[in-house]
Amino acid sequence: MKSSYNSNLTYKDLLESIIFLKNPKKIIEFGILDGFSLQVFSSKKDCQIEAYDIFEDFNGNGSSRDVVEKFKDYKNVSITYGDFYKKFLEIEDNSVDIIHIDIANNGDVYQFAIENYIKKLKNDGLLILEGGSEERDEVEWMKKYNKKKIKPYLESLKLKWKNIGNFPSITLINKI
Ligand SMILES: C[S@@+](CC[C@H](N)C(=O)[O-])C[C@H]1O[C@@H](n2cnc3c(N)ncnc32)[C@H](O)[C@@H]1O
Repeated sequence: MKSSYNSNLTYKDLLESIIFLKNPKKIIEFGILDGFSLQVFSSKKDCQIEAYDIFEDFNGNGSSRDVVEKFKDYKNVSITYGDFYKKFLEIEDNSVDIIHIDIANNGDVYQFAIENYIKKLKNDGLLILEGGSEERDEVEWMKKYNKKKIKPYLESLKLKWKNIGNFPSITLINKI
């Protein structure tokens, strides 16, 4: 007999479950677009969420400034211009519960995150990154622009990580 548990959940369900289990007080997000993931995080009212995007400077489907308007009544959310490749310099070490990175990820983005953002997490903190599955590494733009694959990079790491889903999939990496 087929178990009733053997059915699908969404990425929203997954993110909500992480928030429930980790009970974060501070989240940083890079890559807002229309605010789908930010909407999920923002429902945790006792958590401060700093969201960053490079808006019109992104050479692709970038976030529009309308998203600022969308979240203007959320007291726990700040939306500011911030570049993933520079912002880490301003973030205190050991200060964040969850960092979510969704900026057209590839293997180099993952490597940069691990080298520069893991240290920003508290010891029980969690890095959440879009992608990481074999299917996601085959996405058209990754092949077209010869981007470094994520999965083989993940497999080379000593850190504890877990990739969930097929496409786009999500990767969770524990600080320790
Ligand atoms: C895939 S979308 C984000 C999707 C969003 N998290 C969601 O749940 O729908 C990628 C976003 O990353 C932003 N982005 C690209 N490069 C970035 C960078 N270096 N720093 C910050 N944001 C960046 C883009 O402007 C775009 O809004």
